[in-house]
Order: sequence, then C-alpha cells, then structure tokens
Amino acid sequence: MAIPLLHTMHFHAAYTSLLFAELLCDTPRTNDKTVAVVEFGMSLLADDFDAVVASRRAVRAFLPAPVSRKLINEVIDIARLAPSNSNTQPWSVHVVTAEPKRALSAVLAAAHTDPAADPLVHLPDDLAQKFRERQEHFGALFYGLHQVDKCDNDARVRVSGLNFEFFGAPVGLIFTIDSNLKKYSWLDYGLFLQTLMLAARSRGLSTCPQVSFARFQALIRDFLHLDNGQEIVCGMSLGYADETAPVNSLRMPRETSQAFTHFMGFEQ
Ligand SMILES: Cc1cc2nc3c(=O)[nH]c(=O)nc-3n(C[C@H](O)[C@H](O)[C@H](O)COP(=O)(O)O)c2cc1C
Repeated sequence: MAIPLLHTMHFHAAYTSLLFAELLCDTPRTNDKTVAVVEFGMSLLADDFDAVVASRRAVRAFLPAPVSRKLINEVIDIARLAPSNSNTQPWSVHVVTAEPKRALSAVLAAAHTDPAADPLVHLPDDLAQKFRERQEHFGALFYGLHQVDKCDNDARVRVSGLNFEFFGAPVGLIFTIDSNLKKYSWLDYGLFLQTLMLAARSRGLSTCPQVSFARFQALIRDFLHLDNGQEIVCGMSLGYADETAPVNSLRMPRETSQAFTHFMGFEQ
C-alpha cells in the first residue's frame, strides 16, 4: 500500500488539494481510495494542526523583514473559508505597509498621547473577579517585561503606544464590520481572525490581534476613507517574530479545559 510511504508534506499537499478540489471545483470525493486517503490524512493533520495552534501567541516585536503581498493574500484566502452565520461573511480587511502604515501609525500615535482622547472601554467596569484577575495578571507580566511600574502612567502610555506602531511589524491589518450587524456576526469575525492567525502561523508568520485600534474609530475611518456605517473591529500586526526580544518570551497561561467544560450523559 502506497499511502504510508508518502512523505508527510506531500501527503498534506495532496490532502489539501483534495479539499480545495471539492471546495472550489465541486468535485465530489467518491471513490473508496480517496476516502481512505482523506481519513489517513486527518490523523496526520491533527498533529500539525495542534502544533500550529499551540505555537501561535501574541507577538509584540517583529523583524523588519518584509512580507510579500502574495503571502498575505494566501493567508487571507485561507481565512475567508471561516464559517459565518448564514454565510454572511461580515469581514473587511485593510492591509497597510510602508508609507501608508507609517502615516496611519503617526496619526494614531498623536491621538494616543493626547490626554483629552477618550480611553477605550473594552471590558465592563464590573468585570467578574476571575476575569479581572486574569487581566491584571496579563498587565503585570506585560508591563513587567517592559520594566514599567504600574503607577507610572507616562511609561504605560509609551508602552501601550507600541500598539500603534504595529510593534515594528512590516504589515498592519485593520478589520472592519458593518456596524448594523449584531453580536453573532462578531462571533463570525472571531472565527475569521483566528483562522487568519493560524494560516499565518503555519507559514512561519506571527501576529498580534489588537483591540487598541478600536479606540480611534473616526480617525481610522477617515484614514481608510470608510463611511460611518463601518466599525473598526480591531487591528493586527503581521510579520516575522523577533525571537530575541524579551517581550516575546511572554507565555500566557490557560485554565485547564476541566475548569470550564461540563459534560452530561457520558458514562465516565
Ligand atoms: C480580540 C483581541 C484583542 C487583543 N488586543 C490586544 C491589544 O490591543 N494589544 C496587545 O498587545 N495584545 C492584544 N491582544 C492579545 C492578548 O493579550 C493575548 O491574546 C492574550 O494575552 C493571550 O496571549 P497569547 O495570545 O500570547 O496566547 C488581543 C487579543 C485578542 C484576542
């Protein structure tokens, strides 16, 4: 039997093209051999998939190495396969690099340091304790890595301002949504974003999703020539991680799945 002799990567390429054939050309997977290939491929893919998911993290220092438009397109092309409520596909992506990225960063950096600018309220004031603890733990680790005292407001503004420089990444993404859509479409958006980040990771790229950009709705809309019906969901830095940067040593912990998963009706 030839299947086990196939090199893993070739196998995955064959598997992927089968999926694409089905998706794009409407070619049904009918014969038994093809089905066996697909099932065998599934178990191999699980290991690779898990490795990609586990290796993704929010990266906050990048190498200046550019990312080609072709590669960015490839990543977005995979992300667009994310599911959405009634297939509404509520995403819009704006990609900036070079001069436009510098110009956007400059506009936002100025706004960020303006003491009159409203802060972004992205979590409720009455945040439940377990969420507050996790948020504070993140803040302590993140600002600790930058050696910023939690009471030093100027230093915090300087460090949080790195968001608007896309943490030195060569590519910045801004994601927008029709503001008329409801929370279910925002759920779709999350699926799209994670798919995009994993597609990037599987190609050696790193990302940082950034809600910080949502603070400057009108400025970003103006910059991108969008109408008022568009809402900024978040931004994202995209590029190759600088693995030597201390800030990229951050590994945020997770709860065990037992802590938040509730089974019913199983024998054990
Ligand atoms: C929707 C969303 C918005 C985020 N916004 C920011 C942000 O504005 N700035 C930032 O540095 N990190 C941001 N993050 C990254 C989170 O802090 C990070 O995902 C979390 O601490 C878990 O760490 P990990 O992604 O490295 O596993 C955001 C993440 C998500 C999912």
